Amino acid sequence: MKKPSRRQFINTSLALGAGAFLNSCQSTKTVESGQLPIIISTWNNVQANNAAWETLTEKGNILDAVEAGARVPEADPADQSVGYGGRPDREGNVTLDACIMDKDGNCGAVTFLQHIKHPISVARKVMEETPHVMLSGAGALEFALEQGFEKQDLLTEKSKQEYIKWLETAEYKPKVNIELHDTIGIIGADSNGDLSGACTTSGLAYKMPGRVGDSPIIGAGLFVDNEVGSAVATGMGELVMRSVGSFLVVELMRQGLSPYEACKEAVMRIVRRQDTAELQVGYIAMNKDGTYGAYSIKPGFVFAVTDENGTIVKDAESYE
Ligand code: GLY
Repeated sequence: MKKPSRRQFINTSLALGAGAFLNSCQSTKTVESGQLPIIISTWNNVQANNAAWETLTEKGNILDAVEAGARVPEADPADQSVGYGGRPDREGNVTLDACIMDKDGNCGAVTFLQHIKHPISVARKVMEETPHVMLSGAGALEFALEQGFEKQDLLTEKSKQEYIKWLETAEYKPKVNIELHDTIGIIGADSNGDLSGACTTSGLAYKMPGRVGDSPIIGAGLFVDNEVGSAVATGMGELVMRSVGSFLVVELMRQGLSPYEACKEAVMRIVRRQDTAELQVGYIAMNKDGTYGAYSIKPGFVFAVTDENGTIVKDAESYE
């Protein structure tokens, strides 16, 4: 594997700095051919991809890489749809969902987790340190604290003030393409074509207390099958859960569809059966040779691709 130099990487990061990424968007109207190794993630998570790539370069472990990538927006208070700084539920509590899956089909998840900045790392601990796949709520928090994670307040002043403003009307209306962020899903393949994926979110802003979306649900928000490929979802979780979206994408690839065609068909299943008038869903997927694709219901969905040439943000094709 030809590894990128650190300089090449930093140059790419600088080129895609704040506000600049839109200029770098490329359309994906055709099936994408890829190369190994490769990292792709939902939205303009350039820094997440870069962290994942650096981890892959240094450690050679694709599971470590996707976890490292997911931790970037989790720690970023400016990202109000993931981790620390996430928008709260309608009672003012930040509740987090995440899952992770490796090449051997091992997986771990947490739902309705409060007070822990890095739910993706707790999900990995669930996978590696327990006989279970998913821990939720108070049990997930107790487990995280036992594992040495620090308890902290995740509601930033910005998200708190927005919540107080929201309470004036308390109108519940999910927004499409919030700040080009929403859930981060990150999937990758190492130089052997071995796969892993991670998905993490604070879920829908002002959701009902206890609401859990697609992101921590293996098969809905994320699925990895090392024989075939991987897929991850972003957007309105209820639409994805009803169609078991990421599992569907991978199964469609198993039947011979390209990642792009599989993402498109999974979106079309939603569009044909559910009301999507005000709602967005986007999928990204890759197969074992690094070929990748994406598709969304509405325009505006972008995704970040990193390979040995650096990182670029691409514009997904959409139904509308
Ligand atoms: N896709 C994130 C959520 O619906 O919670």
